[in-house]
Amino acid sequence: MSRRGLFAGGAATAAGALARRDTPPPQPGAQVEPFHGPHQAGVATAAQAHAVFLGLDLLPGTRKEAIVRLLQLLTDDAARLTQGRPALADTEPELTASPARLTITFGFGPGLFEAAGAGSPVAGLPAFSTDKLDKRWTGGDLLVQVCADDSLTVAHAVRMIVKDARSFARMRWTQRGFRGQAAGKTQRNLMGQVDGTVNPTDLDSAVWIGQSGPAWLRGGTTLVLRRIRMQLETWDAADRVAREFTIGRRLDTGAPLTGRAEHDEPDYHRLNRLGFPVISEFAHIRRAHVSDPARRILRRPYNYDEGLTRDGKSDSGLLFASYQADIARQFVPVQRSLAEGDLLNEWTTAIGSAVFALPPGCAPGGWIGETLLS
Ligand code: HEM
Repeated sequence: MSRRGLFAGGAATAAGALARRDTPPPQPGAQVEPFHGPHQAGVATAAQAHAVFLGLDLLPGTRKEAIVRLLQLLTDDAARLTQGRPALADTEPELTASPARLTITFGFGPGLFEAAGAGSPVAGLPAFSTDKLDKRWTGGDLLVQVCADDSLTVAHAVRMIVKDARSFARMRWTQRGFRGQAAGKTQRNLMGQVDGTVNPTDLDSAVWIGQSGPAWLRGGTTLVLRRIRMQLETWDAADRVAREFTIGRRLDTGAPLTGRAEHDEPDYHRLNRLGFPVISEFAHIRRAHVSDPARRILRRPYNYDEGLTRDGKSDSGLLFASYQADIARQFVPVQRSLAEGDLLNEWTTAIGSAVFALPPGCAPGGWIGETLLS
């Protein structure tokens, strides 16, 4: 190309760059999730990249009137922040300009019902032989789940919530998580597996509480939050065949061992040349599979990685968030089946556990919990 051609090309490129500058670039941070509605956001919402789960305990002596004030205050914060507006008396209003699909979701633990003088629809889970629960990550009266695609947005929202809750409650635990966000792909967990393939599609039957639940909880759901540590050092020692056998799916595509693509239906009856099931009796997906779609749990897990423990081991795993209409009918049987014979137990240990009822959403001017407490 001649020098002249080169210059002409350069000018064209510069003009193109200018034109591109004139059209404003898409701003992912500007995306907003609705706050008001029949259900709380943050459950059916496509999972955002970052999450903080806060477990709070009401201060001793906190009764119903104070809980109402607390929930009105926090609902107001959530309604504003999720829409990209500062909370009342927000000390850093500039940090609210990028809501990045922020959702703030509230849940009530057994202790909140007791303090409010109401019967609790949720109770602690039965003990599972594989659990090694640490008090640091277990229980809690009030859950605040904060999710967004921008970790700065999450941090600011958490700070506002914590400030406003301070006169009513103290922090019991904070759990931070993240997800890979490759567009159009199911996320991977820290063991490298494609995690999140099979989930219920009809949330009205599997997740949202309907006519069979307490009237005040209709449109709500329940959350079981388990902190599950991964023993990544010993997982590293397992070869690929063993890793795929453990789950029943391939590591590269996430396809079942009997199929080719991620969403192929697993064939639990297929036998190998030796007459053994291709997907083992003890493979995670077989142990966790529930054939009735209305009884499936909605998994919305986040990875956690706190670096290394003092003895140099990885402190990482999954914040396993499971939403379902009925914990006893949906979560417990699956967890029991896993505790009784899941190969994955060799490398995973539940070290935290908490249960919450998530009330329905509210209309503008309303507040989360009003159906129970007003
Ligand atoms: C499926 C990983 C804990 C319930 C899967 C899959 C992976 C996985 C890779 C296959 C892909 C998919 O459908 O998402 C893990 C890891 C865990 C863990 C690494 C712990 C660190 C649990 C727990 C439960 C559970 C505690 C419930 C109590 C399920 C269910 C499925 C599943 C219901 C779908 C089964 C089906 O195909 O029908 N998990 N999981 N998982 N897991 Fe887990």
